[in-house]
Amino acid sequence: MNGLFISFEGIDGAGKSTHIAGLAEALSNKGCKVTLTREPGGTSLAEKLRTLILNDPMDALTESLLIFAARRDHVQTVIRPALARGEVVLCDRFTDATYAYQGAGRGFDLDLLKTLEKWVHGTRASHVAYGLQADSMLQPNLTYWFDLAPELAAKRLANARVPDKFESQPVVFFEAVRDGYHVRALADPHRFARIEANQSKEEVFADVIQVAKDRGYL
Ligand code: TMP
Repeated sequence: MNGLFISFEGIDGAGKSTHIAGLAEALSNKGCKVTLTREPGGTSLAEKLRTLILNDPMDALTESLLIFAARRDHVQTVIRPALARGEVVLCDRFTDATYAYQGAGRGFDLDLLKTLEKWVHGTRASHVAYGLQADSMLQPNLTYWFDLAPELAAKRLANARVPDKFESQPVVFFEAVRDGYHVRALADPHRFARIEANQSKEEVFADVIQVAKDRGYL
């Protein structure tokens, strides 16, 4: 598997979507075959689960199980096959979002999230019984973290659209989610690239492109 896997993270309202499309275009122009996808979602089954996850009330365990169920289908049928073909996979959110939203935001048990991560990202399910090492798991090569103060993100979201279950959470929830991303970034500084999202769109995009250039991807 020698493709390139890039994920994009941040609290709701941080403004990552347009930049994902822009980076996809830049990579395509360079001759890369790009698979653009998102979580929860990215497959027919996972998109159905997304609708439930984003709209139906449920407890944190149910939410985490559904998110990882969607991720399993997505990893097996879209992400791994694309990487195996040597393609670039750009994924709007991945497992860091689960640690940030369900772990830090909802206060859900991080050890259980780690176990689910092993099951879902593990190279072979049969290894799970023996305990997978972290380095044998599928992880993005690069994770862009669009960092924005929750009060600013809330203002950006206010007029954007009808809020879903997560978007309608109070600022204090997003402060916890942001802290969760910060912890993830500190634990894996080589994989994470923090993008200052409190800038103009043009400045943010220039930073996104610069990171890709620094890594030799563009
Ligand atoms: P999006 O609006 O950026 O597509 O993200 C969908 C929502 O799902 C967003 O509010 C974050 C939430 N989410 C989680 O809570 N846990 C996860 O693991 C993922 C991937 C998303």
